[in-house]
Amino acid sequence: MKIISLITQKGGSGKSTLAECLAVAATLDNKAVAILDMDPQGSAISWKQRRGSSDPAVLPVTMTNLSEEIERVRTSGADYVFIDTPARLSDWAMAAAKVSDLVIIPSRPTIKDLERVEASIKLSTLDNIRPVLVVLNQVRSRGNRDEQAENYIKSKNFPVCPGRIGNRVMFEDADTFGLTPQEVDQEGKAAIEIKHVYKYISHLLDQIKNEPVSEQTSKVVNYE
Ligand SMILES: Nc1ncnc2c1ncn2[C@@H]1O[C@H](COP(=O)(O)OP(=O)(O)OP(=O)(O)O)[C@@H](O)[C@H]1O
Ligand SMILES: [Mg+2]
Repeated sequence: MKIISLITQKGGSGKSTLAECLAVAATLDNKAVAILDMDPQGSAISWKQRRGSSDPAVLPVTMTNLSEEIERVRTSGADYVFIDTPARLSDWAMAAAKVSDLVIIPSRPTIKDLERVEASIKLSTLDNIRPVLVVLNQVRSRGNRDEQAENYIKSKNFPVCPGRIGNRVMFEDADTFGLTPQEVDQEGKAAIEIKHVYKYISHLLDQIKNEPVSEQTSKVVNYE
């Protein structure tokens, strides 16, 4: 079983959205999947309520029962567990990072989000070195600001997913019904972007042991 946490201290960067979309992508890939919602706001839980009974399972967790719930989903035969974490409770995010095979750090290409990336990487690796991956989200069609964001990421040598997620209204439209873009229009741009990011992450998880994701690791992953 692989555990993937979505962590960043910047609110609204796409932690819950990516947890939901990647979990559905894994379900469509015939994996057994659960989302552990560690955010007291309960965004993933509400999404699941709008969604009704279809997969994936979404369970509320706290710092106290995280290990217990992980063992429960492991016993039930889960292949992937996505942990959605709160932006503000850093000790909760650290607890999630600690049990994770991979930490995904969603970031919008804005300076305020990007400035939090380094802190989020530090927080996620404070107790130990572990693989982290920045996923750029809500990327607008080409413009100067996005170029600046790209240059900033490159200058810092952060491990970045080559697949990026555009700023697309489809995410909010699908969310209204507890769905994800892949379930509304599987040929749409948002669905294709999610599929690429999912493929990249699942290949990465097959390759990485307990070491940081390096530029070299990124190169050996053929996510297409
Ligand atoms: N790629 C995208 N394009 C358009 N809208 C998006 C995209 N990703 C997320 N959103 C929207 O942005 C808002 C914030 O996203 P989300 O709730 O996933 O962020 P979060 O990091 O979980 O926030 P919080 O820190 O409050 O938990 C939501 O309304 C979501 O639908
Ligand atoms: Mg959230």
